[in-house]
Amino acid sequence: MRLVFLGPPGAGKGTQAKLLSKEHGVPHLSTGDLLREAMAKGTPTGRRAKEFVERGALVPDEVVDALVRERLPGVRERFLLDGYPRNGTQATELDRLAAELRAPLTAVVYIHVDDEKLVERVSGRRSCPKCGAVYHVEAKPPKKADTCDACGSKGLAQRPDDRAEVVRERLAVYHKNTAPLVDRYKTAKLLRWIDGDRPIEEVARDVRQAAEGQKGGPGGPKARPARGRANA
Ligand code: AP5
Repeated sequence: MRLVFLGPPGAGKGTQAKLLSKEHGVPHLSTGDLLREAMAKGTPTGRRAKEFVERGALVPDEVVDALVRERLPGVRERFLLDGYPRNGTQATELDRLAAELRAPLTAVVYIHVDDEKLVERVSGRRSCPKCGAVYHVEAKPPKKADTCDACGSKGLAQRPDDRAEVVRERLAVYHKNTAPLVDRYKTAKLLRWIDGDRPIEEVARDVRQAAEGQKGGPGGPKARPARGRANA
C-alpha cells in the first residue's frame, strides 16, 4: 500500500490517513504535520516555512521536496503520503523519487468536498497542541470537553491558518495549483474518487476499500457516485 491522499483543505485527508495508518500499521507522512513540527521546534526549515504557512501559501517546493526525500526511503515499502504532492513540480519529483526507490504509487485517494462545506468544517477543527490529535467541535468532539482523548492534555487549539480569511486563500491556492493533479492521476489510472461529504466512518469505509484495491474508480464530475454509495 503506497498511497497519496489528495484533496482540498479540510476534506479529511489527515483524519482518514490516520485511521488507515492505525488499522493497517502503514506509516503516515503528512507534509503539513512535518512543517508544523519544524515550526514548533524553530528549526531552519520551520523558520523558512512559517511565513508561507501562516498566510496560506505553498511552502517553496525545494523545502517540502527535501522533507519527503529525507523520509520516504525509510518507509518505501508502505506509506500514506498526505498533503504532498501539491503541484505539478512536486508530482514530478515524487515520480522521480518513487522510481529511484522502486516504490511506485498503488493509488491516489482523492477526497472531494465542495468549497462552502470546507470553510465551515475547517473553522470547527481543534487540535491537541501536544500530540496533534485532530477533533471537530461537532463532527468529532473529544469525549471530555477541551481534553485530548489520545494523551489527556487540556486546551485543544485552533490552527492559526484555520482563520476564515486564511482558509479562503488556501482554497484558492488549492484550486490553482493542486486540483490539476486530479486529471494527472486520473490519466495515470491511479485516482480513486471518494465523496468526502459524509460521516467520517462512511468515508473511511470507502477509503479502506479503495486503498485495498477492492473498489473505487477514476470518478470525477461526470462520474460522481450517488450520495452514500461507494464509487463505481
Ligand atoms: P496541511 O496541514 O496539509 O493542510 P491542508 O492540506 O490544507 O489540509 P488540512 O490539514 O487543513 O485538512 P485535511 O484534509 O487533512 O482535513 P482534516 O482531516 O484535518 O498544510 C498546511 C500548510 O502547510 C499549507 O497551507 C502549506 O502552507 C503548507 N504545506 C503543506 N504541505 C505542503 C506542500 N506539499 N507544498 C507546499 N506547502 C505545503 O479534517 C478537517 C476537520 O474536519 C477536522 O476538524 C476533522 O475532525 C473534520 N472532519 C474530517 N472528516 C470529516 C467528515 N467526513 N465530516 C465532518 N467533519 C470531518
